[in-house]
Amino acid sequence: MNSPPSNRVLIMDTTLRDGEQSPGASMNKEQKLQVAHALRDLGVDILEVGFPVSSPGDFDSVQTIARKIEGATICGLCRCHPKDIPISYEALKDTPRRRLHLFLATSPLHREFKLQMDKAEVIRRSVEAIERARELFDDVQFSTEDGSRTELDYLCEVVEKAIEAGATTLNIPDTVGYTTPEEYANCFRCLKEHVRGIDKVVLSVHCHNDLGMAVANSLMGLKAGARQVECVINGIGERAGNAALEEVVMALRTRRDFWGLETGIKTERLYPTSRLISSITGLTLARNKAIVGQNAFAHEAGIHQHGMLCHSGTYEIMRPEDVGISKTHLVLGKHSGRHSLRQRLLELGFSLSDEQLDAVFADFKLLADKKKEVFDADLEALVSGRIAAVMTPAWELESYHLTSSTQDTPAASVTLKHRSGLSKSASATGEGSVEAVYQAIGKATGISVRLKDYQVSAVTVGEDALGYVTVEILHGTQTYVARSVSIDVIEASTIAFLDAINRIAALLEDVGEKKVER
Ligand code: KIV
Ligand code: ZN
Repeated sequence: MNSPPSNRVLIMDTTLRDGEQSPGASMNKEQKLQVAHALRDLGVDILEVGFPVSSPGDFDSVQTIARKIEGATICGLCRCHPKDIPISYEALKDTPRRRLHLFLATSPLHREFKLQMDKAEVIRRSVEAIERARELFDDVQFSTEDGSRTELDYLCEVVEKAIEAGATTLNIPDTVGYTTPEEYANCFRCLKEHVRGIDKVVLSVHCHNDLGMAVANSLMGLKAGARQVECVINGIGERAGNAALEEVVMALRTRRDFWGLETGIKTERLYPTSRLISSITGLTLARNKAIVGQNAFAHEAGIHQHGMLCHSGTYEIMRPEDVGISKTHLVLGKHSGRHSLRQRLLELGFSLSDEQLDAVFADFKLLADKKKEVFDADLEALVSGRIAAVMTPAWELESYHLTSSTQDTPAASVTLKHRSGLSKSASATGEGSVEAVYQAIGKATGISVRLKDYQVSAVTVGEDALGYVTVEILHGTQTYVARSVSIDVIEASTIAFLDAINRIAALLEDVGEKKVER
């Protein structure tokens, strides 16, 4: 294989692994598959899609993506435990382009308090795992977790031993978002200068955003010689998130004169991919989010608008169309056919099976009957609702009845149908109509939860806009998020809540499912 030009940066997307660790962002297999398709179409080189040993669900998603997605390297995360490596191989073996991503912490704090290992033991475990992994994988990445807080001379030693053991990519994560651009660049310069064999491997940056510097740190690591950047769409991820893919890519492209680096990303797919992930995870973006936020290309001040009319370059360093923002959002109406729907959904980043398309087409026709104009955002909401729902739910809504007036306490009764065929009804009151319905569902299913967050927004504008409801509930210590959309807000609220209850029911039924800490 020809080696890539020296100014080509590999994009490793970890939206489905590190990004999915965002509180409330966990996705089901179908949602992950949609995201994986979209990321492949965006042109990412490596897709990190999960942590196969962490749960049977993660294993299944990684295996499904490895079987279905072609055109990118599929990567799975793995601890340096000898027994984890063959399990990860099972999940990844059906794709010819597979990568195993091993990690072990190297910093003094992690060595002493988390691992209780000395320096030599960390090296011994890493080398043993890399050698074992190379028996099964040609492509092995090793990450020195909390690498940016590791003594530089020791970091050089670990990296050198990892290369000797056969690692092909070496990643130095800034796990807690602590480093600074200059310090991080210096770390890569030091590795390049002192580590034997460093030119045989790809160096990688992986930055968290705790101090708001993930993108700046990543760029400086690249400037100092790293040629892979690990990033996440919309910058989601644990705590303050990871470096945002769209920001890194557009910074490299817009200031090519300064960085001198190229990526293989089709930048006009950035905005649709960002929207897709936001609608699937329910993590909405700040209006002023760089590159993909609603205001990123809006010019409010008169003086700016005047400048823009004279020459767009006065206040615009990128064109909206470069990142795929189109001016028209109106798409379909009630006479539109299945083919036009499929085509538009593909443009929005959704690759649906025939069966899924049939279901969405039926939803679309119902909606188009009620609503004159169906916008992109309506379609995104419809499809996200479909693919988010638990596949074979334990409980389905048969009916609900509500009474509410200025004089009386709101009261609701619901009838649910269990998968076993049994119907259950329950009634309850609440401070508001939605609460009354939620109490009744809790009684009928016997699953008691605490409502952490409840949000309603209009998907588009106008009196017939769809209501988009997101509920976040707490069961034990675990948070579940679910969403639904309908012209009727109470209906959307009920279905979203029931979907969250069904996620809990699925987990309660799945007694074999044990998550390891990650
Ligand atoms: O932030 C981190 O250190 C990680 C590793 C597992 C690579 O995500
Ligand atoms: Zn990370």
